[in-house]
Amino acid sequence: MKTTVTLAAVVVALFVPSEVRAQSDSGFSSTCATWSGSGTILTATCTSISGSMINSTLDLNDCFANTEGILGYQVNGNFAGSCSNITHNSGNDLDGDTGYLSAICSAANGDKFDTAIATSNYVGNENGVLQC
Ligand SMILES: *[C@@H]1O[C@H](CO)[C@@H](O)[C@H](O)[C@H]1NC(C)=O
Ligand SMILES: *[C@@H]1O[C@H](CO)[C@@H](O)[C@H](O)[C@H]1NC(C)=O
Repeated sequence: MKTTVTLAAVVVALFVPSEVRAQSDSGFSSTCATWSGSGTILTATCTSISGSMINSTLDLNDCFANTEGILGYQVNGNFAGSCSNITHNSGNDLDGDTGYLSAICSAANGDKFDTAIATSNYVGNENGVLQC
């Protein structure tokens, strides 16, 4: 029991500061002409500042982590190390332009969770190139 409490404290200490520190981009799906996802790779054709169209890819392992079955933004989070059945959907939030990443992610005790995160809240178009 004591070990569990100690571990939980360490997890909080490790993750809270990085979430506060991390500054992610957002909104790629509204400024990119086309996009698609396959596995952990997001591919898009986005408009640069000068107006040209640029193709780029982003490995979402660089952007998201699985913490106890929940996907969250974390630089180099490597979520796919503990998630499977990764799918991508274009969603329909109020702006009609949200992309969703869905996966089945494992908790430390082996329980699996069907979870999703709005990729466009954390991935942006940085001068034509996808970035998180
Ligand atoms: C960008 O991707 C599109 C669609 O896959 C393709 O038709 C086009 O030739 C690509 N453009 C460049 C500059 O690679
Ligand atoms: C996950 O993928 C595996 C292999 O394709 C499949 O057998 C399984 O039914 C999927 N699980 C869910 C919950 O979709």
